[in-house]
Amino acid sequence: MPTVLGKGRAPGKAILFGEHFVVAGNAAIAMAVNLVNYVTASIRDDLKVRINSAELGGAGVFDDTGFSPENPAVDRRLLEPVRLATEAGLKAIDSKVGLNVDVTTNVPISVGLGSSASVAVATIGAISCLLDRPLGRERIRELASESERLLHGNPSGIDQTIVTNGGVIRFQREKGFMSLPTRDGFSILIGNTRVRRSTGAVVSRVLTFRDHNPARFSELADHVATIVDQAELALARGDLSDLGYLMNENQRLLVEVGASSVELDKLITVARDSGAFGAKLTGAGGGGCMIAVADERSRDRVTDALREHGAEVYDVSVDTIGLKSWREPDSEG
Ligand code: MEV
Repeated sequence: MPTVLGKGRAPGKAILFGEHFVVAGNAAIAMAVNLVNYVTASIRDDLKVRINSAELGGAGVFDDTGFSPENPAVDRRLLEPVRLATEAGLKAIDSKVGLNVDVTTNVPISVGLGSSASVAVATIGAISCLLDRPLGRERIRELASESERLLHGNPSGIDQTIVTNGGVIRFQREKGFMSLPTRDGFSILIGNTRVRRSTGAVVSRVLTFRDHNPARFSELADHVATIVDQAELALARGDLSDLGYLMNENQRLLVEVGASSVELDKLITVARDSGAFGAKLTGAGGGGCMIAVADERSRDRVTDALREHGAEVYDVSVDTIGLKSWREPDSEG
């Protein structure tokens, strides 16, 4: 009898405006980007969970007794988000089976591009299709957010929302999200400092700033709210010059609350000096990635300048699909 595979795909994301302040209840704008993760799940004939991903460092097996890496270089911490998502998926559909979960990541990890949220939703989607118990996007988003919460602190849920929905969204913790229109072909440049960092650590640094400077934080949050409102209009107009200006404004506030880093500041200056309309960090910061908007004429120049300063650069457009999961026969089974 042919075996069946469950498959899932989900994009990475870039926060365009409002990161960090979104944790405190502000609105933020996020874009799903066309760097996409893929997950394939299949049933094993024991109760173990084997996770395999070349990009995450290799394969390892989780069972009742703990974790067994298949080679010494495998770092359990990198596979842990996939394991938590797998457990969350199995629990939600009340199934006790062993699984092989194969992950192919095209979204670089731990640099602010939503890789762990994307892998988590694609994993839960793949498992629910494999077991023929489709959970629906909203439930998958919730489950991935819960499993993320086990890993670090107090996430706003914006990452899981944007990678599940796709497109460009305005997100607010208490209000949920709405999709925003953008002009066809809207794209941004992402510069990766290649410095990996923990979202939880940078979020708690910013929350410490807030606790020590509540009045100033509240002024900054008001300013971010204005930036986000103006950015929504600029996106609808496709006004790159305004978007760049607003990114520069947003970056000033992120520097003040301690979310930037020497490497990010450097790349942001390089992007502006080489012709971008504006640039800022994206996601948690403290390392990770920056984004820039530039028109056709200066795009190549900005890309080259960022590369000369050590960045890995991705020229990305909007992923409108978000999470997709399906079932297919295993042609090798
Ligand atoms: C992480 O992509 C965005 C932060 O605002 C954290 C969060 O919203 O959970 C830094």
